[in-house]
Order: sequence, then C-alpha cells, then structure tokens
Amino acid sequence: MTDATPRKRLLIRTWGCQMNVYDSTRMADVLAPLGYAPTEQVEEADMVILNTCHIREKATEKVFSDLGRLREAKRERGGDMVIAVAGCVAQAEGAEITARAPWVDIVLGPQSYHRLPEMVARASRAAGAVIETDFPAEDKFDHLPETAAPQGVTAFLTVQEGCDKFCSFCVVPYTRGSEYSRPVAKIVAEAERLVSLGARELTLLGQNVNAWHGEGPDGRPWTLGRLVRQLAEIPRLARIRYTTSHPRDMDADLIAAHGDTPALMPFLHLPVQSGSDRILKAMNRGHTADDYRRLVERLRAARPDLALSTDIIAGHPGETDADHGATVALIRDVGFAQAFSFKYSARPGTPAATMAGQVDEATKDARLAEIQALLRDQQAAFNRSRAGMLAEVLVTGPGRHPGQMAGRTPWLNPVHFDGPASLTGQVVRVAITAGHPNSLSGVIGTPSHATTRERPAA
Ligand code: SAH
Ligand code: SF4
Ligand code: F3S
Repeated sequence: MTDATPRKRLLIRTWGCQMNVYDSTRMADVLAPLGYAPTEQVEEADMVILNTCHIREKATEKVFSDLGRLREAKRERGGDMVIAVAGCVAQAEGAEITARAPWVDIVLGPQSYHRLPEMVARASRAAGAVIETDFPAEDKFDHLPETAAPQGVTAFLTVQEGCDKFCSFCVVPYTRGSEYSRPVAKIVAEAERLVSLGARELTLLGQNVNAWHGEGPDGRPWTLGRLVRQLAEIPRLARIRYTTSHPRDMDADLIAAHGDTPALMPFLHLPVQSGSDRILKAMNRGHTADDYRRLVERLRAARPDLALSTDIIAGHPGETDADHGATVALIRDVGFAQAFSFKYSARPGTPAATMAGQVDEATKDARLAEIQALLRDQQAAFNRSRAGMLAEVLVTGPGRHPGQMAGRTPWLNPVHFDGPASLTGQVVRVAITAGHPNSLSGVIGTPSHATTRERPAA
C-alpha cells in the first residue's frame, strides 16, 4: 500500500469457490494504487464489488437480493458509490444485471480484472454501466500488479483457469472460458513472493488444477506433479495443496508426488459427482465409478494416510433410485473425510437443463438428505479417528476464545488448542484429544522442527 492516508474505501463481497477468494485479493491489489483501502462497512464504502458465483440458482439469486440492499446504501450516500458486479454471474448475465439493477456502474467478467482501474475511470464519466465480459486475448495475469497484499499464513495461488470438460450440468466452461495454464516462471515467482509475505501453506488453484501443464526451465513439458515438486523446494514453504482436480487428469506423476513429496499434504478434493455409470455418462464426466475407485486405490497406495473429499450431485436428470443407490454405495466404499453435496440445479444454457427426466424437488431433497447423513457420519468418524494422534499443525492465528489458537492438520481439519499468539505461522505438534463433527481439539506439544535443545517454554 503506497498511500498512507487512503482517500477511498473499498468493500468486496465474495461468493463461490476459492478462485473467487483469490480473485478478490487481486482486485484489491489492482485498486490499491488508486487509493482504495479495504473496509467492511457498506456505509463508508466509496466502491463495492460483488464477486459472484453462478454455479447454482441459489448463488445467483443472492446477488440480486444484495444489489437491492446496495441501491438503498447508494441512495443514502447521495449516489456517491461505485457498484461493480464481478465474477461468474457478471460473465453469464451481464445484460440482465444492467436491466434489473440500473444502479450498477460496472459489470466485469473474471478475465477482465486487470482492466478495473480504467473501468472505474470510465464509470465516473459514463451515464450507463460500463461492461467488460469478453475473454480478452491478452493475459490478465500479465497485467495484474506484482506487488500484492499479504494473504496470511495460508494463501491461494491460481495456476490454471477455465475448463474444457463441459460436464452436462456446469456453467464454469461458459463463465471462466477455456482451459489456460499460467507459465512456470510466473507461478514460481508468485509463490516465492507469497512466502516472503508470510505464507507457509500454498493452495494451488484451478477449475481443473491437475489439467495444468507448462514448459519447465529444463525445456521439458511439465505437469502438476513436477510443478509441486519444484515449489516444494522453496525454503520456508511448509505445505502445498491443490484444488480442484478432475479424476481424468490425475496422472501417474501426480499420484507419485503424493508419496514422495512430504510438503504435499495428505488431503485431496476429488469430485466424483455420482456413483452410477449411467449418470456419469449423461454428465459427460469421462470416467466410470470403478475408474474412480481404482484411482483412489492408487492414491492410497502412494500415500496411505490420504484423506479424501468429494462433490456429489443429487438428482441429475435421468437419475433413478438405482442410480442414487449406486452413489450411496460408492460413498460407502470410498469413505470420505469431508465432502460437499448439492441438489441438482438446472442452469440456463447447459445441456442438462433441457434433458428429459428432470427429477422432482421432493425426490432430490430425499436423496440429498440420505447422502448428507452418510457423509456427515463419515466426517464425524474420520474426525474421531484423529483423537489420540500427534498431529503436525500449522498455526493460522488466534482462536475464538482468549488464549486459544487455531490451526490446520495435514488433513485440513481445523484444530483448536491453548497456546501463545507467537506460534502463528509455525508448524507445531498437537496431541489431538477429541474429534468433533467439524473440528478437532488438542493440547500443544513440541514445535515439530525444534530439536530437544531448542524446545521452547510452550
Ligand atoms: N471445477 C470444479 C467444479 C466447480 S463447481 C470441478 O470440476 O470439480 C463445484 C461443484 O458444484 C461441482 O463439483 C458440482 O458438484 C457442483 N455443481 C456444479 N454445477 C451444479 C449444478 N448445476 N447443480 C448442482 N451442483 C452443481
Ligand atoms: Fe464444471 Fe465439469 Fe469443468 Fe468441473 S470439470 S468445472 S464440474 S465442467
Ligand atoms: Fe462459482 Fe464461478 Fe467458482 S460459478 S464456483 S465462482 S468458477
């Protein structure tokens, strides 16, 4: 931040996936040189950005209800507030936003964030809304500022964006465009910068992160496994994760990296969507339920303590009771440490929206309830199974109660324990005393990198 007394305040609200969280930090970075400093208070905001998600109908509707409230806030400031809609709803429904909410000044899709300063300037002159929802030829990453505000102990880094998979139900290929991989040198430089700003754990992001590919400094084609090994060399970077993966792009080298790269954490989010081959085919997933089971076996052979997470959709068009049963069976077979499950939501413009055999809401609700009950049990069992372990915990900051600290296990469980604030950013050993439905509690032991002689008072 170059301006000691910022003249303007910026409020960013973020919905959707982790890439939107990352993008929001980049939008803040690009606006900082214009004198915008962050605020949480809408009344004092000179500019408000809604960074939106289009994945399900509910997510999209939230944007319009928020815009209704912002209209009032803008009126109370005598119109002195720039309102911008960014993200996937902006990309998919730019025209509808300006029609339904003419008080919006800027509509910008995910490929246009580097143009934000210029759009703010144009918006102050223009009468109507300024809209950018093209997929520009230039690389937005080349135009985003290199100096970034620290993200903290854990940080996100986009390595890949867009998707060419066209699953029947999904808007992402339309909102994020086609698959694009950032070059190795750019990724390594950004990773080093984030670590120098205090990050100890990096999560590499992509809509299809394991489709990432590039050319290494050795002139060879690199895939994600090789990139992970390279990043693992960065001193002080303790942990690496990546999300979201597609089962089809899980190659042998990436599987091997789970076994031979200690910095790569034993937790993998690997969406399966359904356990029925008929439905997987209708979804255009390009894998069967058994392909997924075999993949899990190979991953667990490489890294026996690997914890798995997944995404499940209940009630895709054409799904019968038998298909639903196959999904339940797959969940039982694999055993997930964590998972997200959703009721199928028809999205305009996607093939599934017009497929025959749309499932009624009551059936979708019942199937989702059964899936969620099972997944909840599996998560609770996984968390309970951590009790009694000595876990390496990355301390992320203070917990909710005085004297309490919070951190993450290798398996991504939040964990709470008593300890001094000075531990933030360290990897410490925590004896896990209890597993709760959504978190763990424990008692601190020795910082895991300390020798006996260096053992601190803690
Ligand atoms: N890039 C990620 C998907 C992002 S969307 C991937 O390939 O896994 C996150 C999840 O939302 C998807 O995995 C899917 O389970 C769910 N989802 C996507 N479209 C949906 C829809 N139309 N209805 C319900 N859930 C959906
Ligand atoms: Fe959507 Fe499928 Fe692409 Fe994932 S792989 S982003 S679910 S189209
Ligand atoms: Fe949502 Fe777009 Fe992410 S639709 S899930 S914000 S890629």
